[in-house]
Amino acid sequence: MSLFITLEGGEGCGKSTQAKLLSARLSRSGYDTALLYEPGVTPLGLELRRCLKRARHGGITAEAELMLFAAARSELTATMLLPALQRGAVVVCDRYADSTIAYQGYGRGLPPTIITTVNQLVTRGLRPDVTVLLDMEPIAALQRKGPSRDRFEHESIDFHQRVRDGYLEMARSDPERWLVFDATRPASIIATAIWSHISSLLGRASPTASHSA
Ligand code: TMP
Repeated sequence: MSLFITLEGGEGCGKSTQAKLLSARLSRSGYDTALLYEPGVTPLGLELRRCLKRARHGGITAEAELMLFAAARSELTATMLLPALQRGAVVVCDRYADSTIAYQGYGRGLPPTIITTVNQLVTRGLRPDVTVLLDMEPIAALQRKGPSRDRFEHESIDFHQRVRDGYLEMARSDPERWLVFDATRPASIIATAIWSHISSLLGRASPTASHSA
C-alpha cells in the first residue's frame, strides 16, 4: 500500500529532523519508504534550491519565486514521487505544495487562484494523504535556528507570522488531512506522537490503496 505524508512548518520548526525520524521508523518497521524534500532531490531541484535560498538573490520577484518552486515540484512529482507511490511505497516529503500556499500565497501575497492553478499543474492533482504541521512562534523558531540565515530566514517577522497564520488556517480548514504538533516540545516526544498517528493510519489503510494521479 502507498501513503503520501508531508511535513510542513516555518523556519526552524524541526520538520527535517522529524521527516528523517519518521522515515527511519517506517523503514525499521518494514515499509518500503522514500524520504524526499522540496525544493531539491532531483538535479534541477538542487540547482533551484541553491538559487532560491542564496541571500544574494534578494531581488527575485514573488512571481519568479513561485515559478521556480513550481519547476522543482514538477520534476520531483514526475520523476520521484509518483513512481514511488505507484510502486506502493510510503513517501515522507519534507515540504510540498502547501509550502507554496503558505510562503508565496500568505507570505508574499500572490493570488490564491494563481497558486492553486500552478500547484494543480505541477502536482498533477496529487495531494498528500496526511500533512504534519510543526507549529511554533516565529521569533523563537528563528532564534533556535541560530545565526546562519538564508534568503527566507532574512525575511521580516511579519512575513514569518503570515506564513504561520496561513498554515494554521489551512490546518483548520482540513482537519482530516492535517495533524498539528507543538514544535516547542522535545523532538523525541513529537516523533512518538507523529508515529502513533501514522502507524494507526497504516493499520487502517487498505493494502490495495494506490496513487494514480
Ligand atoms: P527548508 O528546506 O530549509 O525548509 O528551506 C526551503 C525554503 O524555501 C523555506 O524557507 C521555505 C521556502 N519555500 C517556499 O517559499 N515555497 C515553497 O514552495 C517551498 C517548497 C519552500
